[in-house]
Formats: sequence, structure tokens, C-alpha cells
Amino acid sequence: MIKRLSNKRILLGVTGGIAAYKSAEICRRLQDEGAEIRTAMTSAAQKFITPLTLQALSRNPVHLDLLDAQTESAMGHIEVARWADLILIAPASADFISRLAQGRSDDLLTAICLAADCKVVVAPSMNRSMWEKKATQNNMGEIQNRKIDILNPGEGDQACGEIGVGRLMEVGNIVNSLSEMFETHSLSGKNVVVTAGPTREAIDPIRYISNHSSGKQGYAIAEAAMEAGAAVTLISGPTNLPVPARVEIVNVGSADEMLEKTLNIIERTDIFISVAAVADFKVESPALSKIKKTGELKLSLELSKTPDILLEISKLKNGRKPFTVGFAAETENLIKNAEKKLREKDLDLIVANNVGDPTIGFDSDLNEVTVLGHELNKSFPKSSKKTLARNLIAFIAERCLESIAYG
Ligand SMILES: Cc1cc2nc3c(=O)[nH]c(=O)nc-3n(C[C@H](O)[C@H](O)[C@H](O)COP(=O)(O)O)c2cc1C
Repeated sequence: MIKRLSNKRILLGVTGGIAAYKSAEICRRLQDEGAEIRTAMTSAAQKFITPLTLQALSRNPVHLDLLDAQTESAMGHIEVARWADLILIAPASADFISRLAQGRSDDLLTAICLAADCKVVVAPSMNRSMWEKKATQNNMGEIQNRKIDILNPGEGDQACGEIGVGRLMEVGNIVNSLSEMFETHSLSGKNVVVTAGPTREAIDPIRYISNHSSGKQGYAIAEAAMEAGAAVTLISGPTNLPVPARVEIVNVGSADEMLEKTLNIIERTDIFISVAAVADFKVESPALSKIKKTGELKLSLELSKTPDILLEISKLKNGRKPFTVGFAAETENLIKNAEKKLREKDLDLIVANNVGDPTIGFDSDLNEVTVLGHELNKSFPKSSKKTLARNLIAFIAERCLESIAYG
């Protein structure tokens, strides 16, 4: 089954309404879809359902108080707001909605919502008459204006014995709506390995041969694959970049080391994306101690070829070869050279990257590429490396699924 919320972090906020008991089911169904859940409850919510239930189901402590030094680490509301990819308030009481509309932050849940930059989704639940009141409808209008998403209540029998609009949206529909709010789950269940950054080939214990790769494109691709639901391992040469959340990092130095670490996990890899700028040559025999400056004006280093990581992976046989995507960083004859690499290395796709243009390529935040496959050629216009990464991952996921379907 495709898990539509793999790698997604959802904070489930529960307020004091009769439907609070349904929050336990919402928690379970979101977990079924692969989401990681944390919960926060208002004081009133704790009168309807115990924190223990939500703690046991979510396998995380429940966030309860804004000003309690014992249960909240300093700035806990900010931390939890930053942690979440999405905040769902279900059920949302009429009172909570009115506090949200006023922009208040005098309890933990409203403070979290105010501090959050992620999407906030509200699923109201209340007596029909409370829902119909102008005060409630005005508050709903106000929060909608602020781009808070509403999961509208349904019509039917109510716990108070009345019939009308105000029932919490059905749990299955809440889960479906949330899944649709995330852009993609195209790589759900897939293991993806991305290599990124430069490699360093030792000259002596202090000096090395390397290149200008910043790692930005590879890191953005690893993050986009994670967002698309994959379990991602990033095998990275030295960079100054923060590791994207929920991506497993393997730090390496040389090309030999990058090959070794890649081969270690390739058996369980579905898609291999080689973005690293691997050095083509290494010093045949690096000096064991620092090479001293002498009277000589010249120093000769004997270089030998580093392993071709992409070729080693694409040569794998007996179903061990993953869907393999290479990057061709070229300064001239971009498409011709990329096509040659695609054929010679028997890749599934190659991304032709013009690193000779200073407005895109190595250290820039922008990039523009053409993806080549067998009888396939698609251009991706200039955009940020993050946007490009998302578009590339969507494209790679589509081609990979096609190749599985047609063998
Ligand atoms: C038995 C009972 C059931 C209630 N059910 C609801 C409800 O379904 N929806 C609602 O908006 N308020 C309901 N309330 C009123 C809220 O509990 C009350 O407004 C409370 O202040 C909400 O607090 P909170 O928004 O901080 O969770 C109910 C109250 C009681 C006593």
C-alpha cells in the first residue's frame, strides 16, 4: 500500500469538544499513512480524553502547558511549531476558533499556531446552533482570510441530540484531505541514494585535489526525494551545508570511499542519483608526511584514475542495478557529451548540467538542466536548485515507475 504521508510530521491539536475521542482514531489513521504524529491538548480537551491515550498512540509525550517548566522545555511551543510540516486541529471547538481568529497566544495550542510557518488546518466540531451563529461564522471567515485551511463539518445526528451541520468531518475524509495537501508521495516506500558534493584526493596529509562543487544541487535533490516519501541516504563529500531533516547522511572524503559506502547499501537501493562531482584523478601514492618546500621550482605528482562510481553501479547485474541517474557537469558540447555518457554507462537517465555558465551551476542557487533518456529529452528552465530538485524528482519517479511497469 502506498503510504501517502511518509516522512510527514503532523502536530495533532485537540480541543475541548465532545468529538475529542475521535482524535485517537485520527492519530492512528494518519500513522497508517506513514505520518509521524505529535499531539497537543487544551485543558478542556483533557476533560474529554486523557493525555495518556494520545501519548501511547503517538508514542510521544503530549504537549499540554505553555507555562509549565516541568513539561515544556524552554520555548517548547516554538520548537514544536518548527518541527511540524502541518498542524491539524481536530476537533476544533467554537471557543478555540474564536481565540485563533483573535490571534491570541495565551494557551499552548494557540501559541503554537501563531508561531507556526507551516500549514494550519482546522476541523470544527460543535452543536448546530453554535456553528450557525454569526459570531462563529465571522471567526471562520477571519481565519480563512489568513490562509488557514478548513475541513468543513458535516451534517447529521449530533451528540447533543439535535440534527444539523456541526459534526466533525469523517476521519477517513480528514486523512484524505491532508494527504492531498502535501504535494507528492511519488517515492513512497522507495529507497533512494544520492551522492553529492566534491571528493578530496590526498596529496599528503595536509593537501588535496578537489573541485568547486558546493553540494547544493545534490542536497536539494535528497530533500526533494524525502519530501516525496522516500527513505533517503545522502552520501556526501565535504560541504558546508546543513543536512536536510529526515535524510540519513554518510560523510566521505575520497572517491574510493564514496564508492565503498555506495556499494555497501546499493543492494537495498531502488533509485541511485549520482550528483557528486567526483574527482577523476587521484595522486597515485600520496605522501605519508607533509611534502616540504625545497629549492625546486616544480613538483610533479603522478595521477591515476579514480573509480567511476556511476559505471560501477550501472554494471551491476542480476537485478542488483537500481534505476540509475547520472549528472553530466560539462562546460562545452553539453548535450553531445551527456548523450555519450548515457549510452556508454548504460544509465536510465542523465541530467546535463552546464557548469560553464556562472549564473547557474556550481556555487549558484540557480540551475537549468536538460534530462536525457533513451529516446527522451526534456528541458527544465532556470529556477532555484530547490524547485528544480522537486521537478526532477517528480520526473525521475515517473520514469522509474514506467521502467518497473514495462520492464
Ligand atoms: C459536555 C460538553 C461538550 C462540549 N462539546 C463541545 C463541542 O462539541 N464543541 C464546542 O465547540 N464546544 C463544546 N463544549 C464547550 C467547550 O468545552 C468550551 O467552550 C471550552 O472552553 C473549550 O475549550 P478549548 O477550546 O480550550 O478546548 C462542550 C462542553 C461540554 C461541557
